[in-house]
Amino acid sequence: MTHAHQRLLIIDFGSQVTQLIARRLRELKVYCEIHPFNRVDAAFLKAFAPKAVIFSGGPASVFAEGAPMPPAEVFDLGVPILGICYGQQVMMHCLGGKVERGHGTAEFGRAYVTPAERRLPLLDGWFADGREQVWMSHGDHVSEIAPGFAVYGTSPNAPFAITADPARSFYAVQFHPEVHHTPKGAKLYENFVRLAGFAGDWTMGAYREDAIEKIRAQVGGGKVICALSGGVDSSVAALLIHQAIGDQLTCVFVDHGLMRQGEAEEVVSMFREHYNLPLIHADESDLFLGALDGVSDPETKRKTIGRLFIEVFERQAEAIGGAAFLAQGTLYPDVIESVSVSGGPSVTIKSHHNVGGLPEKMGMKLVEPLRELFKDEVRALGRELGLPEKFIRRHPFPGPGLAIRCPGEITREKLDILRRADAVYIDQIRRHGLYDAIWQAFAAILPVKTVGVMGDGRTYDYACALRAVTSVDGMTADYYPFTHDFLSETATRIINEVQGINRVFYDVTSKPPGTIEME
Ligand code: XMP
Repeated sequence: MTHAHQRLLIIDFGSQVTQLIARRLRELKVYCEIHPFNRVDAAFLKAFAPKAVIFSGGPASVFAEGAPMPPAEVFDLGVPILGICYGQQVMMHCLGGKVERGHGTAEFGRAYVTPAERRLPLLDGWFADGREQVWMSHGDHVSEIAPGFAVYGTSPNAPFAITADPARSFYAVQFHPEVHHTPKGAKLYENFVRLAGFAGDWTMGAYREDAIEKIRAQVGGGKVICALSGGVDSSVAALLIHQAIGDQLTCVFVDHGLMRQGEAEEVVSMFREHYNLPLIHADESDLFLGALDGVSDPETKRKTIGRLFIEVFERQAEAIGGAAFLAQGTLYPDVIESVSVSGGPSVTIKSHHNVGGLPEKMGMKLVEPLRELFKDEVRALGRELGLPEKFIRRHPFPGPGLAIRCPGEITREKLDILRRADAVYIDQIRRHGLYDAIWQAFAAILPVKTVGVMGDGRTYDYACALRAVTSVDGMTADYYPFTHDFLSETATRIINEVQGINRVFYDVTSKPPGTIEME
């Protein structure tokens, strides 16, 4: 099999930061994939044909029964290998060195590595000031290096901080070069891929051409249907597929009546008129709001919306005469099979709604052209496809929409008030140039009425909560530290401009213990 790009294989031993290795490599325009150690065998290696291999770190001990190991054949590929932390220990263990148990002397955090006498091209650009800061995180440590290896860097607690067998291009480090706390880590990766002969051929332009070819090959003359929400992932997926197969693609925008102010019109007009994309605007607000009438339990809300979404989508798919393929904007982080070390299922905090479950039910095959990309790469691809910056930088918006920003029962009146308050809030954020510094910002309407005084009269209206958070991936988040001036100006505007609200709160809860959305 030939591959369009030179490929690097990351064998995952379960480190929390394996994805960062992939990020660093993609920044160097090197195509890489992460695969769990227990899925990589000789046949896999042959088919993948990596130009280099990286062993990630991991929480295990090589002494543990059934300790994660790479296949022996990886050392016979004749390609450079870089072992990180547990990856270093595994490498030494497999190649004839020795690893010692930590005996409670685990080393975590900042350390300083100083160079050995010998020079190593992997460390070009290192040690200009005599030493480099690195980030250590390990329990066991290497006590004897394997035959052929030599030491190129040491730290007070890690005499084998940097080791290598340059003749075989095997490199092994005790620390994590992929984290920001190893400031010269990116340089180490740059040196590694240069030594391995990567040309840096992973560009968005090349990706786009490739993806278009792949979509055409997969779909042939078949019809594809895509749920378009206006979010960056589904927008980019739709544009890319449209460029590949034109009118064989039909997009469906399911309007559940829980969109923000002007949103439905904006999404529909942009894709229909600007991009000339075949788009069905399914206005199903009566259906959704009818089913949600009197529902106040968050999970019931989510499940109702998810079920109706599938129903509407199925109906629309039938209306266009059936489609053999369903397009989804699945991203790489959703695809990577993480190595579970603790085992056991995690607790469901919220049932996220997406179109999952549809393809099996409807007998459709999936088209997922973004499966290999990280979020920022999707944004880069969006730019390549000419998607306006406004869409590219949009804050994430949840599938259940305003339903989960309206705790308790949903009414049309509340939704209407919420839309107007949210529009004022977002306008304030844009006016103050803060939109791009925030991961997500929105207003919520609380299920309480409070007393106020406006002019000479008493008011008895809803309270509104404002939320704004910073985050990297939505998994954890911190509230955004607006100035007092911003908050008071915004509260005044909302109360003056939105009839039905007489009190404004700012949510200062981080995640955890809160979540980003209210429900
Ligand atoms: P939470 O509220 O769980 O949100 O802290 C984390 C991120 O996920 C988004 N979110 C959803 N996205 N369907 C979605 O597509 C959902 O059901 C859903 N619930 C939460 C939320 O907006 C935030 O970005």
